Amino acid sequence: MMRHALPHRITLAAMLLAALTWPLAGQASSQLASDKGCYNCHGTALSGEAPSFERLASKLARYQGDPDGEQKLVTKFLTGEMFQHIDAHEQLTPESATALIHWLVEGGK
Ligand code: HEC
Repeated sequence: MMRHALPHRITLAAMLLAALTWPLAGQASSQLASDKGCYNCHGTALSGEAPSFERLASKLARYQGDPDGEQKLVTKFLTGEMFQHIDAHEQLTPESATALIHWLVEGGK
């Protein structure tokens, strides 16, 4: 019995690790963006003045390697001071907003 328990535990640890690092992966953020309805305005069928994520990503690329600038952007994004208040932006938790902004800064793919 005990012989079988060890590999099992290793698998469990690997799964746990994967679960912990998973939110950092790009795919997870595009899923998050989808869950939060971001694509309703920033998708291919653009709504109103919303720029596509592709355009946003190329604009936000200037924050690459600039965590301070990126953090300021997250704060502005959440407080809505930059644009006329957009509920979908302001209702995000700081964690989600940070993950999504970082995802866009890194290319939004
Ligand atoms: C109701 C439509 C709508 C939804 C939903 C929406 N946005 Fe936006 N978003 C906009 C509009 C409109 C702008 C442009 C405002 C402007 O240019 O003043 C914008 C701008 C942005 C910007 C621009 C920041 C900058 O510096 O230019 C980012 C980043 C962004 N949205 C991310 C998101 C994310 C992430 C989500 C999902 C949580 C989301 N948006 C959901 C309408 C929306």
